[in-house]
Amino acid sequence: MKKVFVNGYGSIGSRIVSFLKDDPEITVVGVGKYSPDDKVNEAISKGLDVYVPESKLDSFSNFKISGSIESALDQSDLVIDAAPGGHGYKNKKNLYEPKNIPAIYQGGESTIGTEAVSELLFNSRANYDQALGKSHVMQGSCNVTGMGRILEPLRDKFDKQLVRFDVTLVRRWADIEQTDKKVPDTIEMTEKPHHGDDVKLYFGKDAPLYVRAIKVPTRQMHLHIMDIRFKDMAPKPSEIHDLFTNEFGVATLWTAKGTGDVRDYAQNMGFNFTDTNMIHIHANMTSSIGDTIQMMYSDDQTGIVIPENHMLMQAMLFDKSYKEAFAHTESIFHMVEKKQKLQDHFAEKS
Ligand SMILES: NC(=O)c1ccc[n+]([C@@H]2O[C@H](COP(=O)([O-])OP(=O)(O)OC[C@H]3O[C@@H](n4cnc5c(N)ncnc54)[C@H](OP(=O)(O)O)[C@@H]3O)[C@@H](O)[C@H]2O)c1
Repeated sequence: MKKVFVNGYGSIGSRIVSFLKDDPEITVVGVGKYSPDDKVNEAISKGLDVYVPESKLDSFSNFKISGSIESALDQSDLVIDAAPGGHGYKNKKNLYEPKNIPAIYQGGESTIGTEAVSELLFNSRANYDQALGKSHVMQGSCNVTGMGRILEPLRDKFDKQLVRFDVTLVRRWADIEQTDKKVPDTIEMTEKPHHGDDVKLYFGKDAPLYVRAIKVPTRQMHLHIMDIRFKDMAPKPSEIHDLFTNEFGVATLWTAKGTGDVRDYAQNMGFNFTDTNMIHIHANMTSSIGDTIQMMYSDDQTGIVIPENHMLMQAMLFDKSYKEAFAHTESIFHMVEKKQKLQDHFAEKS
């Protein structure tokens, strides 16, 4: 049994810790909170021990706090950092490295430059084995994880026939739980998005991948619009869809009119946090035109990285093979069953 602390209890941290509680191989030490707000009692009511920074203990005097984050780390074998982007690096320098504790970081950090948290950007489909025995690893962000789920199977199958990938990321503005965050009436353009460079860390630095990004006023997932150019004639759409029949975390849907339909279905089916934890190819939008495949898939922004964190944790803590880790993650997240339900519900009409 290994002990894990989750530092941060927002969109990502609250999901991670909820799944860890179901993992018989893990004891959850607790979660880290930084603001004395309602979420402290919410976490406690879910049976979690809440820890806060030593320097902020006084401001939490009205709450039943279990101690300082510093003391929680002393009891832990690994920490999953779920801090707002950039704070993971500071935590690494101020807390995790001095205490010599292995850490997983989230996609708001970087693996490039002076504030890199790790040399490795993890994507279980692409580089699981490289995380074995590592002490500091960053999980790719939701968009970066989603792109990998499409690009890796394409490369495995078509390799040298692939000439170029052009992707437009249509990103959600806010998460479902961020009810205090306004969703303004604008389409925002992102200069120099990091996502393409991040994907190239596992897909290859010279990969012919060109990424643009915009942000739109929705809380319901990201949508990626991808054009894939082939050396000769592009394959038929059915050949593309067939590639993903047995892919982990990729559902192929035909009749969803929009991302909200997918979320509503997840909610109606009682999926945890209303997450599907996967990407959804909108198969009715796939076309083969000359040398180009045009496709679209939606990406469950918060859900997609949670099983990935679970895979990564197993590589770092238990040195498990990909196959073993995958089977254990599946036993907790039931991805195959969820994929089947989604595909049945949004099946092609005959
Ligand atoms: N949201 C997504 O869809 C998504 C998807 C993939 C990756 N990510 C990445 O995951 C990370 C967390 O994002 P999020 O959406 O979960 O953020 P979030 O909802 O804003 O939550 C951040 C949490 O971190 C806590 N926190 C504040 N300062 C901290 C510190 N110095 N160290 C540790 N925790 C601290 C906050 O505590 P208080 O509330 O108590 O202040 C809050 O609980 C980011 O790197 C983000 O880029 C997010």
